[in-house]
Amino acid sequence: MLTLGVETSCDETSCAILEDDSRILSNIVSSSLFRHQEFGGVVPEIASRHCLEQIDAVYHEALKEARIQPSDIDLIAATQGPGLIGSLFVGVSFAKALSYALGIPLIGVNHLEAHLLANFIDQPEPEKYIGLLVSGGHTSLTYHEHGKICLLGSTVDDAIGEAFDKVAKILGLGYPGGPAIEELAIKGDPRAIPFTKPKQTNPFDFSFSGIKTAVLYFVEKKNFERRDIKQIGKSIRKGRSKESVYIKPSQQEEAPWLRDLAASFQHAVTQWVVQKTVAAAKDKKVKTIAVGGGVSANTYLRAQLQEVAREEGLKIYFPPLSLTVDNAAMIARRGVELYRNGKRSEMTLSGVPNLVLGGKS
Ligand code: KG4
Ligand code: ZN
Repeated sequence: MLTLGVETSCDETSCAILEDDSRILSNIVSSSLFRHQEFGGVVPEIASRHCLEQIDAVYHEALKEARIQPSDIDLIAATQGPGLIGSLFVGVSFAKALSYALGIPLIGVNHLEAHLLANFIDQPEPEKYIGLLVSGGHTSLTYHEHGKICLLGSTVDDAIGEAFDKVAKILGLGYPGGPAIEELAIKGDPRAIPFTKPKQTNPFDFSFSGIKTAVLYFVEKKNFERRDIKQIGKSIRKGRSKESVYIKPSQQEEAPWLRDLAASFQHAVTQWVVQKTVAAAKDKKVKTIAVGGGVSANTYLRAQLQEVAREEGLKIYFPPLSLTVDNAAMIARRGVELYRNGKRSEMTLSGVPNLVLGGKS
């Protein structure tokens, strides 16, 4: 069975061909990231315009790489939500038109559920596990049992990726913030600055907006005014090539305190996530954890989770780095699962910007 995955939830436009649920024949991703960098975050209008411009070419490239014809496709799975409404509409409309023209079934997929299934393309999905989703727009813990998903907790304010991005902005490190902070933190002391852990009534909920403010206060305490921070940011950025989003190590010498701040921030948010994930596994009496989303590319988070997994005897899955970013192969994978469970979408399918994890999709 060949499934076409279509992903346009935010700033990426992606089409993939998945054979059964286990073999990626193609997974083409066109990102509009470079168009948003000068604005310090994703501009919805630019993102949806990029999706519209790219979708047809990305689809044809996916067919070409998979060496198949449109008539070979058996199923179409498209991201229904959550995401930016303009971008979602592009993929959903494209998928509906193709499904109608080819006379093949269509399935709307929840983007967040797909992020976690990116772990199980070349290996079977465990019967029970805890899902930890750490992305730019969402942070949540879920309990998965035989394909059914139950939400245990989620962020009450900012998502973890959003916190990385906002802290990076405060420090003048550019967008996206995650990779920039990770690189800066390598030579920093993760225990230099202790950040207070936020308290939640639900032990599986998260909060990341307080630490962003704490970072700002820390910087102000050091008598760095916003003007100075911007100057630091500028001078760090000066030598960077246009394509690169990373800071050169030599330029970090200009502000050594940045390294400790980046490392301490990364350490704090990682610790909170790790502790809650292990607590969820204990609560549900499961020994398996699957991680997904853009922040799951973070090496420090991976190392800390691996360490605690060893101590607690847990098995932990991380997606391959190429599948941590938004991509259509994971959408196709979730689509196949839903199709096998008897799910079909109608031609009335529409993008749902606030679709919830574990909800109807
Ligand atoms: O999953 P994703 O594409 O976003 C949503 O679907 O919402 O992830 C993007 C997020 C951004 O916030 C980016 O800063 C973060 O993932 N990110 C990272 C790393 N790579 C990407 N955060 C921390 N460390 C990284 N290495
Ligand atoms: Zn995503």
